[in-house]
Formats: sequence, C-alpha cells, structure tokens
Amino acid sequence: MAVKVYIIFYSMYGHIKTMAEAVKKGVESVEGVEATIYQVAETLPEEVLGKMHAPPKSDYPIIDPQTLPDADGFVFGFPTRFGMMAAQMKAFFDTTGGLWQKGALHGKPASMFTSTATQGGGQETTIMTAVTQLAHHGMIYVPTGFGAGSIMFGVQEPRGGSAWGAGTLAAPDGSRTPSEVELAQAEFMGKNLAGVAKKLKA
Ligand SMILES: Cc1cc2nc3c(=O)[nH]c(=O)nc-3n(C[C@H](O)[C@H](O)[C@H](O)COP(=O)(O)O)c2cc1C
Repeated sequence: MAVKVYIIFYSMYGHIKTMAEAVKKGVESVEGVEATIYQVAETLPEEVLGKMHAPPKSDYPIIDPQTLPDADGFVFGFPTRFGMMAAQMKAFFDTTGGLWQKGALHGKPASMFTSTATQGGGQETTIMTAVTQLAHHGMIYVPTGFGAGSIMFGVQEPRGGSAWGAGTLAAPDGSRTPSEVELAQAEFMGKNLAGVAKKLKA
C-alpha cells in the first residue's frame, strides 16, 4: 500500500502555495509515496481580505481534520505573523483536539516550512514555535538540517529557509517569488520527509 503524505498549507498571497508545489515534487520523487496538497480554511471575512489585497484562494481542497489519521506523514506550510504561524493555521491545529485525545497522530513524522516578508523576519522562530503543535500530538518533527547540501551554504543572494525547514522571502510588498534555491530546499524537504515516512511505515 502506498505511503501517503499530506501537504497542508495556509497562504494569503501565494508564496507558501508555490513552495507547497515544490514540496510535492520532492515527495513524489520517492518511489511508493503519494502526495496530496490541502489548504486550511480561511478565518478572515471577505471584507478584511479585500482590505489586505489578498488574491482569490487557490483550488486546493480544504483539509478535513478527521482525515489526518489516514496520512503516514505531513508537511505543514504557513507564512509568519510576527515571528509565529499565521492564525489560520493555528485555528486548524485547534480543530485537532479530538485526534489528540485519541493519540491518532502519535508517531507520525512531520516537517514544516514558512514564508516571511523580510530577512530576520522569523524564518526560524516561526517553525521553532510551531514544534509545540507536533510535540503535543506526539508527532516526530523532521527538520531538514543542512541536508539539502551546497545550496544551504550560499550567502551571495538573500534566501529564506534554515535547518528548521524550507522557507521563502516574499519581500515587504509581496513582490518577490520563491527563488530556485528556496524551491530546491522545499523539494529536498518533501523528499526527505517522504523517505522518513516510508521507513517508519515499513
Ligand atoms: C499581520 C501580519 C504580520 C506579519 N508579520 C511578519 C513578520 O513578523 N515578519 C515578516 O518578515 N513578515 C511578516 N508578515 C509578512 C508575511 O509573512 C508575508 O505576507 C507572507 O510570508 C507571504 O506569504 P503568502 O504569500 O504565502 O501569504 C506579516 C504579515 C501580516 C499580514
């Protein structure tokens, strides 16, 4: 039976969505592992989204928390809000209390990625503070470390991502799109997580 990885994201302006698609490529590069992308439900009213100049949502299905136990591994993606995960993602995690009570996600591996407007804007703290969600579920946090290789060592150009997980820099006006290096780390992260999920399932 195929190993299933769910990629679950929140994205207001599309940067995290693009990164999620790179993660999927990485997951699918591992034989016998399937990837499905989901987004979490929006919590802001249309009027507020309009004032924030948010574009329409992508077509990815909204995750139903009750289906989480069907997955063998997860990659969660969320933009930063003041150095921590966006409230929409937190609202999603808050719906998993019933699963927590049953220990339904215990032992499942998960990686995480993020997006910030700026360098020093919370690439590391956003993922670090999100580890509490995994810890309470008894999930296994799978960081990327420096496993993506030489791309992790370059300092010639600005880049998101860290040992904690992949990341992109969106720029303060949201005009920057994920760079080749950032997408490569996202792809590596998908491959890495898929490999761990496959070994654990076996
Ligand atoms: C309320 C709010 C708080 C934010 N806080 C930060 C922050 O602490 N650091 C930062 O670099 N960017 C911050 N941003 C910018 C977002 O992280 C950025 O828009 C996002 O990473 C883009 O990802 P997306 O296109 O997937 O929505 C903030 C944005 C909003 C609306």
